[in-house]
Amino acid sequence: MQIKKVCCFGAGYVGGPTMAVMASKCPEQLFVVYDINQQQINKWNNKQYPVYEENLDEYINQTIGKNLIFTCDIDLALKDCDIAFLAVNTPSKQFGMGAGSSLDISYIDSCIQDIKQYTLTKKLILVEKSTVPIKTCDYINAILQNKNICVLSNPEFLAEGTAIQDLLNPDRVIIGGPIESSKQLASLYEQWIPKDKIIFTNIYSAELSKIVANSFLAQRVSSINSISIICDKIGADVNEISQCVGSDTRIGNKFLKTSVGFGGSCLKKDLLCLIYLCESLQLDEVAQYWKQVYLLNEFQKQRFINLIITSMFNSLKNKIIVILGVSFKAKTNDTRESASLIIIKKLQEEQAILRIYDPQGKIDNIEQYQSLDGIFQGASAIVILTEWEEFIKIDYSQAFNQMAKPAYCFDGRNLLSGDLMKSLGFLYYGLGRV
Ligand code: NAD
Ligand code: UDX
Repeated sequence: MQIKKVCCFGAGYVGGPTMAVMASKCPEQLFVVYDINQQQINKWNNKQYPVYEENLDEYINQTIGKNLIFTCDIDLALKDCDIAFLAVNTPSKQFGMGAGSSLDISYIDSCIQDIKQYTLTKKLILVEKSTVPIKTCDYINAILQNKNICVLSNPEFLAEGTAIQDLLNPDRVIIGGPIESSKQLASLYEQWIPKDKIIFTNIYSAELSKIVANSFLAQRVSSINSISIICDKIGADVNEISQCVGSDTRIGNKFLKTSVGFGGSCLKKDLLCLIYLCESLQLDEVAQYWKQVYLLNEFQKQRFINLIITSMFNSLKNKIIVILGVSFKAKTNDTRESASLIIIKKLQEEQAILRIYDPQGKIDNIEQYQSLDGIFQGASAIVILTEWEEFIKIDYSQAFNQMAKPAYCFDGRNLLSGDLMKSLGFLYYGLGRV
């Protein structure tokens, strides 16, 4: 089968950038991104992208109106389509059995219903790109009961903030399912990705590999954060530990940055999905092992909140606190599951006056500063929650002069030099450093 047309359900963080890069690398194919949310589609079509990613505009500009279309018209998406990606959201389920840990696949469900009702004129390869619970492929097949549709799993591993780079040059592409269709899907990727990076697996392995990869990443962050807690007690420096331990090539130096806790729409949700899977398989010891990764992350956030409150003598009422960063990491506007959300809430409960700034991220219903102008005037504390480069470049000497005294700095990302900040007069607190 010659692939001529590809569609994608979901024009969000994954669907938008992924299809833009694919369209630019596969000029012979037409890519139609379909979403039920008209506003979302309008944003893509009107250069007000709902996603902030470096160089994303370049890839959209190259392709939109040529071989990339954003639409709410399902007929336009499915008509004569060869490959359909499912890239809709799969958040943690919020109700009933498994609430808070199992994944909610109701958005996948409605896509499947749409596909079932549509009269297909040719064979369709249906690709799970969303992160789904294990065996969702069987569930989809059971609903569709259509021999002309072949379901594959092709999880997405892009990280926000580096989405375009990750899409252009992924560490690997995983395709699970019947080999003939898998090879057809691979032929798309092979237009820009070396063949040896494409891994063919059975479909359950592909589904599970995504959940496992994110759980391993979460585990790395919780591991180094647990060490930061030991460092705080004994006077070792966790940044030095990361360097010493990470230089062992067997361990590797990535994902060893201590932080106020991992956030984002994926790590926690997928880790909880793995825990739920273990529990549903009655593997309690395995579930407990992974649960500790989650609990440590919650503890790290709480520990940072306690550090702020106790260092300021449990007296934050009417004190001005500058919050630097609401995005869950730098280079993204995404605030989902950001540690900032809980820290802001707790500081509000203390009746502190918050001045919040982020270069890209916005939290609903909270007033934010549009720039750093005047933000430090009269403030008692600076709390750094996202590792934006802009925050390293601040003139902290000038900020110190404008602040009330004592002037605190709580650095939830170990972004600044503690020695420098202390020499300026700040009461500086990092994580796992003296
Ligand atoms: P998102 O919330 O940004 O986007 C999902 C989009 O799907 C929304 O625009 C929504 O309107 C649309 N949608 C919902 N139901 C629909 C339907 N029936 N038909 C068409 N469109 C529909 O979500 P996301 O962050 O892009 O994540 C999508 C999936 O990819 C999730 O399973 C997630 O776990 C996974 N994933 C996300 C990332 C990431 O960095 N965000 C990375 C890898 C994998
Ligand atoms: C993650 C996975 O990395 C990606 O492969 C998957 O496709 C989607 O989920 P993302 O959530 O975008 O990507 O960001 P990631 O870079 O994994 O960071 C997650 C959280 O961990 C962020 O809050 C980040 O600040 C934190 N983190 C990361 C640390 O605290 N320390 C680190 O060393 C690395």
